[in-house]
Amino acid sequence: MNVIITENYEEMSKKAAEILIGIVKSNPNAILGLATGSSPIGTYKNMIKDHKENGTSYKNVKTVNLDEYVGLTKDHDQSYAYFMRTNLFDYIDIDQNNTNLPCGSAPDTQKECDRYNALLETMKQDVQVLGLGSNGHIGFNEPNTPFESVTHLVDLTENTIKDNSRLFASIDEVPRQALSMGIKNIMQAKSILMVVSGKNKAEAVKGMVKGEVTPALPASVLQLHPYVTIVCDKDAASLL
Ligand code: GLP
Repeated sequence: MNVIITENYEEMSKKAAEILIGIVKSNPNAILGLATGSSPIGTYKNMIKDHKENGTSYKNVKTVNLDEYVGLTKDHDQSYAYFMRTNLFDYIDIDQNNTNLPCGSAPDTQKECDRYNALLETMKQDVQVLGLGSNGHIGFNEPNTPFESVTHLVDLTENTIKDNSRLFASIDEVPRQALSMGIKNIMQAKSILMVVSGKNKAEAVKGMVKGEVTPALPASVLQLHPYVTIVCDKDAASLL
């Protein structure tokens, strides 16, 4: 694991964006695995800025996102589809037909998981961006998700519902389920780029980098991947 420690969130975001922009420049047909949450927002802002100032093009880039809440349509302002449009896709020259997320409002969730798994088999990510849950989750793969898992329906833990409630009007509005790429889908990526900031992630960062590789801390599986870069601010790295 290559761990890059930055002074703060802003510096973390710049560094992570540089890495992603480098990948797109060297391969204009890159497949980017993308993530939501507050961690990558700054990274996406820097990518938008670079697109405007330097013209880095996403015309031939394809994307696959990690996860989506169950029950929200793609136009719901808390859906991850909406998040991706308003934090990145609407501000770069990507063809939105080349962007993919699991559909949270699909009537048959198992069928939707099967569709997404089949898609991922044809779209091996050149890089998969990840955030980190305070309980060590990646995507929505909560503790004790098998490492062999593929896209599946997840019952969110109380911890995650509480963490994510800050973005909703009240905790009752947070969906209780999500569709998430499994750990196997994440590990198929050619490289992994994690962005993580804040003291509340420090325990999970320590376990991920230095702890035992165990499904109890899903992110620890990244120790088994050959090309992982973790860009974290010094608060998140404080227990390393
Ligand atoms: C959410 C998302 C994850 C994200 C994580 C951390 O539940 N499903 O993909 O990485 O939790 O979120 P944040 O970056 O807002 O702390």
